Amino acid sequence: MKFFKRIIQVFGFTAMAILAITSCKRENKNNQATVIDDASKIHISGEMEAELTAPPFVPAPVGNRSAKKLKIHMEILEKEGTMTDGVKYVYWTFGGSVPGSFIRTRVGDEVEFTLANHPENKLPHNIDLHAVTGPGGGATSSFVAPGHEKMFSFKTLNPGLYVYHCATAPVGMHIANGMYGLILVEPEGGLPKVDKEYYIMQGDFYTKGEYGEPGVQSFDMQKAIDEDADYVVFNGKVGALTGDNAITANVGETVRLFVGNGGPNLTSSFHVIGEIFDNVHIEGGSVLNKNVQTTSIPAGGAAIVDFKVDVPGTFILVDHAIFRAFNKGALAMLKVNGEENKALYSGVVQEGIYNPEGGTIQTMPTDTKETVENKSKKTLQEKISSGKQIYTNTCFACHQANGEGISNAFPPLAKSDYLNADVKRSIDIVLNGKSGEIMVNGAKYNSVMTKQTLTNSEVADVLTYVYNSWGNNKTNVTEMMVLEVKNAH
Ligand code: CU
Repeated sequence: MKFFKRIIQVFGFTAMAILAITSCKRENKNNQATVIDDASKIHISGEMEAELTAPPFVPAPVGNRSAKKLKIHMEILEKEGTMTDGVKYVYWTFGGSVPGSFIRTRVGDEVEFTLANHPENKLPHNIDLHAVTGPGGGATSSFVAPGHEKMFSFKTLNPGLYVYHCATAPVGMHIANGMYGLILVEPEGGLPKVDKEYYIMQGDFYTKGEYGEPGVQSFDMQKAIDEDADYVVFNGKVGALTGDNAITANVGETVRLFVGNGGPNLTSSFHVIGEIFDNVHIEGGSVLNKNVQTTSIPAGGAAIVDFKVDVPGTFILVDHAIFRAFNKGALAMLKVNGEENKALYSGVVQEGIYNPEGGTIQTMPTDTKETVENKSKKTLQEKISSGKQIYTNTCFACHQANGEGISNAFPPLAKSDYLNADVKRSIDIVLNGKSGEIMVNGAKYNSVMTKQTLTNSEVADVLTYVYNSWGNNKTNVTEMMVLEVKNAH
């Protein structure tokens, strides 16, 4: 009780949560008493400095090394970063990245943890590692003011993949600003060998402005309390793992993903489109599930998934609560290179038009009258940035990241004669959809594009982006132009 009071004095209300978490851990320990007893008796031999890596990379596997005194130096940095094109955010970080540096240990290690708070930071912080058996997961021993450092040590007793996070009040705010990461405790002898390993962590962000609103966006406490996320992202920002930043593998390789969820609020329905997880360490623990489509990763939890990549292509990683993926940023890419295997996946064998309702295009109900709109005050560059986001959410699945299209299916937008010949026709297609045969750059296409549900300004921005990319004719499509095409119907 004396201990309890002391904690209350230091941390106030936060302590309640910490104690609750700690007591959960004790229950776990009882269930796995044999593991704990063995691990606590593992002797350490020698010491080493831990390798720390920024996402999406992880340190080298522990392999067969013996348990050691493992020294970790982690620096807390508060710094401005990019949430998405045109949107800045001041992140609070462990090691300068969101998620924080990946820590790789083995069971029985004696971790000597030094947490340094950079002198230019504005706030005190601490660290609660879920891999720690001890008060607050280290939080009570690591509370550190700017310009100071604290050291504490712990023995890793339970193998698994664990979240760490800041637990300084208001805890939710510190986590929401990016203060989380993963610590892996490998079993004796290490995890089975794979070809590629990556580090991915989901987080939800709450900003004063809505999704995509430009400028430096500050944290919105009320939205966080309401769990009304503006951004749900992998690795701290929209597009951290897309395009040139995608993770990669070659056909035939095995890929292991260490996936965490920092929250602070949302549970992840983690899924890789076009892949099946061969193995999932459920909740980052020791139980293996096999042949899994989507694994649930709670806030403050993790999972280890692995799978063999058998066919080439771009595989999309999502939170399958799917509006988060296509409207809030929870989308990453795994690019697999290598030879096609038609026996496993044929690709399109034959394509025709199927129009059970007589050739009309799917429509959504809309307001019928639309006349005056505020004239956009965005610069060309702002429109292109905004358009790029809309493109990523809406167009890229068919027309591809660099407008190259998909041969025999979806026409290219890059250096497209069809697009550059007639801007009004392009606007009309985005507004109203398109079916029937067209010729683009000398090739025939006969697919269906559905009507897009975008605002006039979004249509203008996305087309401006397309026209100002990939060798097109740099047309600046305005809202007025969109409105004119709309009203001509
Ligand atoms: Cu903090």
